[in-house]
Amino acid sequence: TPENVLEQFQMRDKVVIVTGAADGIGLAVTEAMAEAGANVALWYNSNDAAIEKAKSLGEAYKIKAAAYQVDVSQAEQVSRSIAKVVEDFGKIDVFVANAGMAISRPILEQTLEEYQKQMSVNVDGVVFCSKYAGEVFKSQGFGNLIITSSMSGHIVNVPVDQPVYNATKAFVTHFGKSLAREWREFARVNIVSPGFFDTKMGANPLAINEAYRMAALGRQGHVKEIKALYLYLASDASTYMTGSDVLIDGGYVL
Ligand code: NAI
Repeated sequence: TPENVLEQFQMRDKVVIVTGAADGIGLAVTEAMAEAGANVALWYNSNDAAIEKAKSLGEAYKIKAAAYQVDVSQAEQVSRSIAKVVEDFGKIDVFVANAGMAISRPILEQTLEEYQKQMSVNVDGVVFCSKYAGEVFKSQGFGNLIITSSMSGHIVNVPVDQPVYNATKAFVTHFGKSLAREWREFARVNIVSPGFFDTKMGANPLAINEAYRMAALGRQGHVKEIKALYLYLASDASTYMTGSDVLIDGGYVL
């Protein structure tokens, strides 16, 4: 770790995979890594704007950047794509398991398929990505996993009922903490728990109003305000951080 604090944030020659990289928080995180000099693998599912984005980031920051279409709820696709990134980039320094989705309705109004969809993306997706990235981390002898959870994994936030979503986030938070211990000899694992952010997922007017009413800062977060936290956790600025769950919620959970 460099003595100079700004140099600790340098990501040059590191390889970072981000899931959900085409939108919202994942896109902001991918930009942060590229701006700090990392080579980036953008994993996207439905939004193929990631392909153009990889091209423009590669040119702007003179880094290696490529897009991969991966449905994180499919174990076989995850395992194959991790192998492909290792083949293309030579290693994986950081895996950001960020992709997620919510169906914001009471459980009594949800179908079993809606329940299963949320479990498969938010729980299976994070478990599959962690497991296959972890195998690479172990064989390399280094690695860094960052999981995007939510403040909804801490508290049952109002105003929308989203019991399954909330529980998936509690799962990934505790799963990540458990991995920090299991992988202590070769990798760090940390969790980010955002509050209300201004993404597609956060575009719900009820959420915007709730942030205005109940967050201490009285508004939603902009995705540019989450970039530095991920950069901190991904870089050598945070070599003593593992198993932490960092809330970034404008003072909602107080
Ligand atoms: P978003 O909806 O803008 O982006 C989510 C991304 O995940 C999209 O690119 C989507 O294509 C991708 N994705 C969905 N299903 C996928 C699958 N099966 N395989 C691969 N990719 C898939 O939402 P946002 O806000 O950027 O969400 C990112 C993460 O942040 C999610 O895990 C979400 O739960 C979490 N979060 C967001 C909050 C907010 O207020 N925006 C608050 C707390 C947590």
